[in-house]
Amino acid sequence: MHAFLPADGCAEFLMDELKRQQIDPRASEPFILAETLPAPALLAFARQTLPDARELRDASINGWADQIIESMLATLAADAPWHLHLWPAYGEGKAGQHRCELIHAALTERLKKRRRSLFRSWVQDDATAGIALVQAVLTAPDAGLVSAASVSVVHELRGILSPFAAGDIPHAEDKAAPSRAFAKVIEAELRLGQYIERGQTCVDLGASPGSWSYVAIQRGAHVTAIDRSPLRDDLMRNARLKFVQADAFKFKPDAPVDWLICDIIAAPQRSIDLLLEWLREKQMRRFIVTLKFKGTDEYHLLDQLKAEAPQMCSDFRLTRLCANKNEVTAFGVAA
Ligand SMILES: C[S@@+](CC[C@H](N)C(=O)[O-])C[C@H]1O[C@@H](n2cnc3c(N)ncnc32)[C@H](O)[C@@H]1O
Repeated sequence: MHAFLPADGCAEFLMDELKRQQIDPRASEPFILAETLPAPALLAFARQTLPDARELRDASINGWADQIIESMLATLAADAPWHLHLWPAYGEGKAGQHRCELIHAALTERLKKRRRSLFRSWVQDDATAGIALVQAVLTAPDAGLVSAASVSVVHELRGILSPFAAGDIPHAEDKAAPSRAFAKVIEAELRLGQYIERGQTCVDLGASPGSWSYVAIQRGAHVTAIDRSPLRDDLMRNARLKFVQADAFKFKPDAPVDWLICDIIAAPQRSIDLLLEWLREKQMRRFIVTLKFKGTDEYHLLDQLKAEAPQMCSDFRLTRLCANKNEVTAFGVAA
């Protein structure tokens, strides 16, 4: 059984999304459970996945620690680095958190005493990408789920399995940015594990007032920003920014760029068509593109991207970011 944690307020849309992929979901607060994983491994409305999750009922702290170790021994290769996400998904207060801390302490003690090699390969930074992931989630004081994913499963499921606990990334803050929209580009970079870098070229479509361009400029990239309206004055004066007042849907770069970043306010199908066209024409190496929805009845449009984009990419993601409102973000690395 696999457990999917919906993005905030998106349980219903995640159920629909699974059903559209011929997967039969069942709700079990706060998770959606299913016997099959989606292929390709993309779920716009899932924030985290617990692959091959085991339901657990145990009132004792030591019992939980033992069961977590058992799951690890059954799944993880000896000496392979792993990290742990252990979190409570019940109640509002600190009780769940406290219980998780006790389980963490019991697990640490047991590993130190009886499983030295597992203890040595435990990576304490719990947001490390590309290594085995153990997840234990308490849905009640004495019940929950445990999942252990080997490094190959983590890689295969990277579109739906986050190295961040509960798939959660706090909104980035920067009061000097022209708008809060900058948090989206930061979050997409973190999820992808790829960052706009010094000397790279970047096209920013629908760029005004300029917070995505602001991030790229800060990193030392060269930005071509396209919008009908100018960006904030200081960005317009920046030597590494070229502003083009034009229709972003008609713009094409003279040569392929390192990054396409695109946050145009437009019907989702238009942004999907734009992204697929740029991919087909190999105009960019990496991309972050927001798809903006009005209401909730057009989410099925995402299915076209799932069908067509992965084969043109070495890494393709489709996610409602923590920083997204009624949006889904497509991001990745072109093949
Ligand atoms: C949400 S804002 C972009 C915010 C920007 N990413 C930031 O962080 O500051 C969307 C922008 O898309 C622009 N836009 C909408 N349709 C456009 C088009 N066809 N061509 C160029 N710009 C367009 C709007 O002018 C608006 O500035």
